Amino acid sequence: MTMVRELTIRSAAAADAERLSELAVRTFRDTYAEHNRPENMARYLAAHFSPRHQAEELADSAMATVVVEAEHQLIGYAQLRTGNPPKCVSGTDRLELSRFYVDRPWHGRGVAQALMNATAAEAARRGARTLWLGVWERNSRGIAFYRKCGFADVGGQTFVLGSDRQDDRVMALALG
Ligand SMILES: CC(C)(COP(=O)(O)OP(=O)(O)OC[C@H]1O[C@@H](n2cnc3c(N)ncnc32)[C@H](O)[C@@H]1OP(=O)(O)O)[C@@H](O)C(=O)NCCC(=O)NCCS
Repeated sequence: MTMVRELTIRSAAAADAERLSELAVRTFRDTYAEHNRPENMARYLAAHFSPRHQAEELADSAMATVVVEAEHQLIGYAQLRTGNPPKCVSGTDRLELSRFYVDRPWHGRGVAQALMNATAAEAARRGARTLWLGVWERNSRGIAFYRKCGFADVGGQTFVLGSDRQDDRVMALALG
């Protein structure tokens, strides 16, 4: 467990499923709703962020979730998962940073950096040497943040939101 001033950063527990679902829905809407059709948003949210789905992911040993708390509220989370990286991600022991979200009032306040440090440490603890992610090519703030953390653009991939196919940049970071 890591304390950063008033923040607590820790691995998520099964009991977090409900609150994680609320945070995941809110941050996903905040990030993408203005750029996407409501029906595509609704399909994606229903398929991925229900409390039940979060509970299943928390119980999945191929995944790891790190959360940030302030004043007993969840204000950010990151998820790691094993899986098949795209060809553009080279190296061995690759782990995907599949979600990385900080609640809007906490943007630009160092929370994201603290969460990234803890998440990279958790990835290394799990034996990863390369952390990779997909980020929507129009998410300039996300891309700028990942660059600041040392991630490099290594290629592209397609992301499907409802019936919409979108272009993601793929970024990778060597750990350690
Ligand atoms: C991505 C995210 C985690 C970054 O956290 P943050 O606290 O906002 O990050 P920071 O403020 O430390 O860094 C963002 C950088 O982008 C820059 N930036 C801000 N707005 C920008 C914009 N519209 N276009 C380009 N760069 C921008 C900032 O200046 C900053 O760089 P600097 O510190 O060198 O000035 C956070 O914004 C977030 O949760 N966004 C919504 C969810 C999201 O997009 N997640 C990524 C999904 S893959």
